[in-house]
Amino acid sequence: MDGLSRRRMLITGGTLGALGALGAAAPAQARPWTWAPSGSVAGKGAGVDPDWVWDDEADPVLAAVIDRGDVPKVNGLLRQWTRNDQPLPAGLPADLRDFMEHARQMPAWADTRKLKAAVDFTKKKGIYTGALYGLGSGLMSTAIPREARAVYYSKGGADMKDRIAKTAKLGYDVGDLDAYQPQGTMIVTCVKTRLVHAAVRHLLPQSPGWSQTSGGQTIPISQADLMVTWHSLPTFVMRKLKDWRVPVSTTESDGFLHVWQVTAHLLGILDEYIPASWDEANAQSKQALDPVLAATPEGQNLTDVLLDIVAELDAGLTRPLINAFSRYTVGDRVGDLIGLDREPFWQPLISAAWPLLVAFREGLIPLPLIPEAAWTVEEAIRKFVLLFLGEAQPIDLEIPDTNRPS
Ligand code: HEM
Repeated sequence: MDGLSRRRMLITGGTLGALGALGAAAPAQARPWTWAPSGSVAGKGAGVDPDWVWDDEADPVLAAVIDRGDVPKVNGLLRQWTRNDQPLPAGLPADLRDFMEHARQMPAWADTRKLKAAVDFTKKKGIYTGALYGLGSGLMSTAIPREARAVYYSKGGADMKDRIAKTAKLGYDVGDLDAYQPQGTMIVTCVKTRLVHAAVRHLLPQSPGWSQTSGGQTIPISQADLMVTWHSLPTFVMRKLKDWRVPVSTTESDGFLHVWQVTAHLLGILDEYIPASWDEANAQSKQALDPVLAATPEGQNLTDVLLDIVAELDAGLTRPLINAFSRYTVGDRVGDLIGLDREPFWQPLISAAWPLLVAFREGLIPLPLIPEAAWTVEEAIRKFVLLFLGEAQPIDLEIPDTNRPS
């Protein structure tokens, strides 16, 4: 049975809870961590396996906030906190406020020049990064079992569409002109996300659905898990830009890496796990991300929701074109894992046309070499990126205080 019809059967065949047998086929987890901290932005570290490290600063604070019943009050107050340069709202519990004051500080190694280069990079290459985040990283995350399951069984899993839209937004915000400027919003988004993740670490172990499928992990979202997802974003995007032969200068590529290093730090990833260079990032990704990709019922459900969101945007992207472009982007291995249809008409067309479109956009070949049909693809992808970007609303991240109702 092919991937897609299997997925359809899973989804139409009842709740995921009924799919224990499939869930029990626990996917491979990362192998023992051997990546050396000398390759990190810290340049050194204890080298502890990050699968056994979570967030020592945030986790106890959020557990206390939840146990005291402070979540609704805190969420209400945090709604007013939107800009990087804004003081924290008055009235936050003291332990949370102290933590957030510390967590909102930019790392000492943040480099304004590199952050500016990242902005220039996104301005020039936004169509590629937009398509890659939306149809590449987003879809790949559904083949990361721990992420798919954590998302599925947490509170936000009950409204996947909203959840996916919120997370996708971070991918775009990171390329925003103001991202880490005083008037920007990325520090706020990262710190709030760090709070959400810490809350999830307290809550998910109480979820029967999560505990039964976690493959023995007792607390979710370890530092290793965070890095796995991180690699599905910048590391994957940069690799694809290379595959697509998009010219990227060293300054732009360093800037793009840097904005994601700062983001990792502000999300609570320890500096000793954040790669200092693309070579280090690629090496870590090979070790941490590649081996864990696997199909899960929860991930397949997420894939469907994500593809529905794309189809609803009505950017002229027909479902077959979405399937084909996504498969072209994530490759056959991930395409099969998440059950993307094979498209005999569109796939060869996209494989032939996309490299030509890239070369033309980058001024490397003249117009007459582009086949007419290629413009259908170009137009649809461009509209998708614009709409996906345009749809994004300011994120109102809420700390959850329950899991997905079972
Ligand atoms: C929430 C981003 C890694 C699981 C969020 C949110 C964002 C985000 C923006 C808030 C959206 C919302 O409230 O719905 C990221 C980024 C990551 C990362 C940028 C890595 C670089 C992970 C990993 C896991 C995970 C590794 C699990 C293994 C979750 C869950 C939620 C969440 C369960 C909460 C959903 C809810 O509200 O119930 N993440 N995340 N995330 N994330 Fe992550």
